[in-house]
Amino acid sequence: MGKQCIISMLCAILLAGIATPVAPAIDKRPVAVETWFKKLPHTKEKLTKLHFYFQDVVSGKNSTVVRVADSKSTIKSPTVFGAVFVMDDPLTEGPEPDSKIVGRAQGIYSSASMEEIGFLMILNFVFTNGKYNGSSLSVLGHNPIFHKYREMPIIGGSDAFRLARGIATAKTYRLNNAGDAIVEYNVMVLHY
Ligand SMILES: *[C@@H]1O[C@H](CO)[C@@H](O)[C@H](O)[C@H]1NC(C)=O
Ligand SMILES: *[C@@H]1O[C@H](CO)[C@@H](O)[C@H](O)[C@H]1NC(C)=O
Repeated sequence: MGKQCIISMLCAILLAGIATPVAPAIDKRPVAVETWFKKLPHTKEKLTKLHFYFQDVVSGKNSTVVRVADSKSTIKSPTVFGAVFVMDDPLTEGPEPDSKIVGRAQGIYSSASMEEIGFLMILNFVFTNGKYNGSSLSVLGHNPIFHKYREMPIIGGSDAFRLARGIATAKTYRLNNAGDAIVEYNVMVLHY
């Protein structure tokens, strides 16, 4: 192998590294997790801000949501009280559905309010791109979907987001007659 070739290979590797920030490999072995905990008193907590759009497609053949349960009275309820949905919704960089996918919102939402449409949200934001590829954030919150801003607690996370806590703020960007929604999310999270 010539010198030129080795240099160009190195260049290719370096360029690939610059073009796509790769998530650092996190050692998940129990012994490594214990070492991680032991170093915590010397590790500074940091604030990370994330911004993305949640694409909730309930209609058509590209639907990313399934309705899995209802009670007998759900059909008569103005707030669809009792309905349970499972989602695997794309998270995108921009608002348009064909915008670059940065992750998925995987979980359950359920109508848990008899007074107004208010969902109980139990989900993970599973990131699939860039620096946070492979990391996730867990959300457990109250989502009254017709309010301008909905605030939901981030109650934990994995990998880059171990021991995360924070706030996810949701704001509807677009809602069509079929019920498909594009929701803007601003996430602020403390983690190590
Ligand atoms: C479903 O997704 C495919 C591929 O992205 C797209 O071409 C098609 O128009 C979509 N269909 C509907 C009904 O949105
Ligand atoms: C994300 O990580 C997975 C698993 O390590 C890898 O296969 C995939 O190519 C990565 N995706 C991006 C966009 O970096």
